[in-house]
Amino acid sequence: MLYVTPLSMRPVLVHPDETAVRRLLEDTGLPTADLCGSHRVRFLAVGSASAPHGVVGLECFGTVGLLRSLAVPPASRGQGLGKALVAAVEHAAGQSGVRRLFLLTTTAQAFFAALGYVPTDRDQIPEAIRATAEFSTLCPSTAVVLVKAVSRAPSVISGSSDT
Ligand SMILES: CC(C)(COP(=O)(O)OP(=O)(O)OC[C@H]1O[C@@H](n2cnc3c(N)ncnc32)[C@H](O)[C@@H]1OP(=O)(O)O)[C@@H](O)C(=O)NCCC(=O)NCCS
Repeated sequence: MLYVTPLSMRPVLVHPDETAVRRLLEDTGLPTADLCGSHRVRFLAVGSASAPHGVVGLECFGTVGLLRSLAVPPASRGQGLGKALVAAVEHAAGQSGVRRLFLLTTTAQAFFAALGYVPTDRDQIPEAIRATAEFSTLCPSTAVVLVKAVSRAPSVISGSSDT
């Protein structure tokens, strides 16, 4: 399924140290403790870095990745931004060589299920994902682990066919 957003709402790269990004995550109840100075987590945002209408994070470990920190402020919800951010982070993951994208959630299993994510047993989770701070310390053991296969899509910006 393709989610189309206006140009002004195209997700852009932002740094997790941006105050507004951290505030949005904290206000949404999502962990930020492992983000300080992090170069491993890439963040995409819609809107500006100083006033984002939504953010999502990505950690890549070869062919597996962790989607994390998806947050849209209450006033901006229900307009497709959450789905657009997931589509953007899946594209970024695929372009980075990720083939299986994992996530943990305590609150939005149905949201992700509608986008093709399926539950997986904790013993099926790759070691690199288990070793992340989000997995090992920050998310409660009651969080559900979901996974989705992603692929390297042709670049929509260059129009090249480098699949
Ligand atoms: C989950 C979240 C990102 C969705 O953002 P959004 O911009 O409102 O999502 P969209 O507008 O793209 O999609 C809205 C759809 O998702 C559904 N939805 C939204 N949040 C949901 C949730 N927590 N559980 C199940 N479905 C949800 C809506 O009912 C709506 O369904 P519809 O298209 O059938 O009407 C947002 O609610 C949020 O920030 N929640 C708090 C943080 C969180 O739970 N993050 C996920 C864990 S990493």
